[in-house]
Amino acid sequence: MARCARFLVQALLQSSALTSTHHHSVQMSKLIGIMTMSVDGFVADREGRVGEVMRWYMASGDTELQTGGDDPMTLRMSEASAKHFRELTADLGAVLTGRRTFDTAGGWGGNHAWGPAFVLTHQVPAGWPRPHSSVSFVTDGLASAVRQAKAAAAGKSVGVHGADTIQQLLNAGLLDELALDVAAVILGAGVRLFDNLTGAPAEWGTPTVVAGVGVTHLRYGVRSRGEREAV
Ligand SMILES: NC(=O)c1ccc[n+]([C@@H]2O[C@H](COP(=O)([O-])OP(=O)(O)OC[C@H]3O[C@@H](n4cnc5c(N)ncnc54)[C@H](OP(=O)(O)O)[C@@H]3O)[C@@H](O)[C@H]2O)c1
Repeated sequence: MARCARFLVQALLQSSALTSTHHHSVQMSKLIGIMTMSVDGFVADREGRVGEVMRWYMASGDTELQTGGDDPMTLRMSEASAKHFRELTADLGAVLTGRRTFDTAGGWGGNHAWGPAFVLTHQVPAGWPRPHSSVSFVTDGLASAVRQAKAAAAGKSVGVHGADTIQQLLNAGLLDELALDVAAVILGAGVRLFDNLTGAPAEWGTPTVVAGVGVTHLRYGVRSRGEREAV
């Protein structure tokens, strides 16, 4: 059943890629899940707060980074983390998130630092979309969101935020890469990243590893079950 759904999504994406005027960029663009997770597997606490798990962003060294966007932040991290973060984000041309990430982030002030943002939701929030904002809402499903975000990224990668959203992409075999920042903290409870998975067990091979301070950055090439079966 999950397999059928995955092939259906892939078929939809392929057919739209063929008719898209951005044919080339749609094919080139990668989907990269980018999440910080506690050692025990949570990306936020029970109330959805990320202060503890994301502490490395704000206070793990002296190297300053400006995020940009309409709600800019000054990040302070180790040189190793800053290099990793700069390289990862320089490759991004658009963002795909779920509605809860959008809500928690207050809509990023209207413009996300990584480029045009596509927010999966069942209902467009009141007051949105806004003028001078590059945040759009997608109410017609995952495949549509992926297609729109890839087209907007114009050949660069799409950064994906949100546990539920990443789970759906993993289950549909659509995620290309997972950039996982493992924060040296135990939360005990909260929003779990690897929940509701239909394709497990999965072997992703050896990640690249960057050691930060209180955080370890792992980048996995994600292989779908179809690709694993073909090996
Ligand atoms: N640690 C990190 O790096 C990090 C990064 C980003 C966010 N976060 C945290 O993670 C939490 C958010 O993640 P999450 O897993 O709870 O949620 P999420 O993926 O951000 O959003 C899930 C919501 O998006 C909408 N949605 C998802 N798929 C959809 C689809 N196919 N069609 C229509 N609507 C769809 C639904 O909302 P509706 O039904 O309401 O429309 C769903 O409840 C927040 O607490 C945030 O602070 C952590």
